[in-house]
Amino acid sequence: MRSKLMRGLALAGSIALTMGLAACGSDDDNNAGQQVSITAEAEVFTWWAEGSEKAGLDALVSVMRAQNPTIMFVNAAVSGGAGSNAKDVLADRLAAYNPPDSFQAHAGLELTDYITNGQVRDISFLYDEFGLRDALPQDLLDLLTVNGKIYSIPVNVHRANMLWTNPTVLKDAGLDPKATYKNITEWIKALEKVKAAGKIPLSVGENWTQVQLFESVLLSDLGAEAYVGLWDGSTAWTSAAVTDSLENFEKIVSLTNDDRDEMSWPAALKLVQDGKAAFNLMGDWAAGELEDSLGSEILAYPVPGSDGVFNFLADSFTLPVGAPNAEGSRAWLEAAASLEGQVAFNRAKGSIPARTDADPAEFSEYQQSAIADFASDTIVPSLAHGAAASPTQLAKIASAVEDFTTGATTIQQFQTALAASGS
Ligand code: GAL
Repeated sequence: MRSKLMRGLALAGSIALTMGLAACGSDDDNNAGQQVSITAEAEVFTWWAEGSEKAGLDALVSVMRAQNPTIMFVNAAVSGGAGSNAKDVLADRLAAYNPPDSFQAHAGLELTDYITNGQVRDISFLYDEFGLRDALPQDLLDLLTVNGKIYSIPVNVHRANMLWTNPTVLKDAGLDPKATYKNITEWIKALEKVKAAGKIPLSVGENWTQVQLFESVLLSDLGAEAYVGLWDGSTAWTSAAVTDSLENFEKIVSLTNDDRDEMSWPAALKLVQDGKAAFNLMGDWAAGELEDSLGSEILAYPVPGSDGVFNFLADSFTLPVGAPNAEGSRAWLEAAASLEGQVAFNRAKGSIPARTDADPAEFSEYQQSAIADFASDTIVPSLAHGAAASPTQLAKIASAVEDFTTGATTIQQFQTALAASGS
């Protein structure tokens, strides 16, 4: 209660500010501009604190400021890819009844804990007000709907099963840079060639990037239907097909950089950009980071064996229960929902709009291909990015992956832990 009251007092002070004064605060870049009376603030919590992620956030802030010039943006971002640091900070704030005016959460099962704990509001009414029911694809609306209610607004769609490669490193290892590989086994042969040539075959980073690598190997080895079955219970974690896939995962991890556990995703990607590694497996936020080098110095294609499958996730924004500034929350959600907001945000972020009415010509070549693939591919949910499993199950799998990749467990123990993750 105390912190809520304190925020209320802080807001009363901020209402009296003008933009000129507000520009003295910590959010100068986002709020600089004309002299306008501030009526409310919008404190927004994300993990987009650096690089192309921050550029995407800034672009969305600009749209909010243009749509609602009297709202001051307050940036509550906590850095760390995939929310690796942010999610704990957010949990503490929510537990202390000190919510921001909106926070980032993935569409899908990641929202379940917030919903069960009564920490987010049903915002179906905003879908009607903002005309979102016609603007979003039905599959996405279905994924977002829980017992007839919707708790967040998606701002984008990302693809998780992508490889980013350095053609020069591949050529130097005697590989055709344009070659693609039909399955994980063929790809492992190529990785071994890179190793023999003295370069890092596949760069990977901290735990969540290893979980993403793991889900990609499972998806390629098992195929879309059996992969989805891992999440709805129709595929047994104890099956022989899963054991084979764990063996592939073990081989692939042995072909990655030794310093992976402390490495951020941009640093792992940079090993490919700098010609030290041949491949990096990462979601297509990498496209935002690579900008113009993509298509010339760096090539991209789906993880071998997963062509035609789009491993999907969507970033969305919530209305927390007890959010202190109703006007600020609404302004932020309106910007996130708007066509203008989604175009500006996604152009910088590498993702594609969740809305279907954006003009593909506004986006890069890579994004145009992602728009086409999202419309025609088989869509499956990402584990590492909150679409496939509850936060509880994801945490159990992430810890099983950590035990395995650090050598603390055998394949058999790994498989047993995975089989127990859903309970
Ligand atoms: C994902 C998020 C993306 C990107 C990525 C790396 O979880 O959905 O937007 O930010 O993490 O931080």
